[in-house]
Amino acid sequence: MAVGMFPNRRLRRMRETPAIREMCADITLTPNRFIQPIFVHAGEQDEEISSMPEIKRISINNIRVEIEKIRDAGIKGILLFPLPYEKSKTEDGRIAHEEGEVLEIIRQTKEAAQDLVLFTDLCLCPFTTHGHCGILDGKGINNDATLEALGKTAVAFARAGTDFVAPSGMMDGMVKAIRQSLDSDNYPNVGILSYSIKFASHFYGPFRDAAHSAPEFGDRKSYQMDFRNSHQIFEELVQDIAEGADATMVKPGLPYLDVISKIRSKCMLPIAVYQVSGEYSSLMLAAKQGILQERQAFEETFYSFFRAGADWIISYYAVKYFSGS
Ligand code: PBG
Repeated sequence: MAVGMFPNRRLRRMRETPAIREMCADITLTPNRFIQPIFVHAGEQDEEISSMPEIKRISINNIRVEIEKIRDAGIKGILLFPLPYEKSKTEDGRIAHEEGEVLEIIRQTKEAAQDLVLFTDLCLCPFTTHGHCGILDGKGINNDATLEALGKTAVAFARAGTDFVAPSGMMDGMVKAIRQSLDSDNYPNVGILSYSIKFASHFYGPFRDAAHSAPEFGDRKSYQMDFRNSHQIFEELVQDIAEGADATMVKPGLPYLDVISKIRSKCMLPIAVYQVSGEYSSLMLAAKQGILQERQAFEETFYSFFRAGADWIISYYAVKYFSGS
């Protein structure tokens, strides 16, 4: 009889008791490997986000309390989305680098989070009137004009105190342009977490509502990746590493576990996975309907991200999970 086959091998032996199951669990969840995304705006009051249960646009006035919750949960990383007033938006999104509420939000967030790692999302879409991730030139999104804006914005974010910038606009050459700008302005220690592998996903819907960043016309398919292709992930990754990324990202999470595991052995950088707004809201709403248990559902997805090979998980549920509520 073949070795390793039933009845010589009974795989259930290793699952029989809670103690042996604990011993065989080779992945543990620690808050050290999670990043909490937060939306912060300059208005006086927190605002509910109807498409994202329990997530708020936090008022800058309440930033300390919010950071305290993250710290108490043991989480070290924050992914900040600083949101401008609607009236500050322009065609070129210059409120991202000009003095104003956006830089003020970054300053105050860092001040409250001195001991934590502050990542700030770097993209033009929350700052432009048209909601696209780059500069328009009448024909489409002008890649190279956008690089200049991203470089300037990275320097402004660094000056305001961010530890890392997280470029999410999927422009070619964005990591290189940002690295050069940061270095030439004397911010060699500000890092880059690049959204290297970001698909044009349906699952970003609730976020665009949260950040008021839906494109006014068209879609993002000329810059975000087409999920029908399985090879371009490698080139996106290799370019970002060569351009100087310090960490990389796959986004969304659950529909792209194969991507994480494919790049894992080829990538020595930390790989972050972003469990995006649509993933978050679907689980939360199923739980609110009594169809799923919220905590168990998220927990299972977290294990799957680590099994696939992720180092860091960016999840809206992180604080709640580690606060144990
Ligand atoms: C900005 C950005 C988006 C997300 C993160 N950064 C929106 C988009 O690309 O349309 C999505 C995050 C989420 O859905 O939770 N470009």
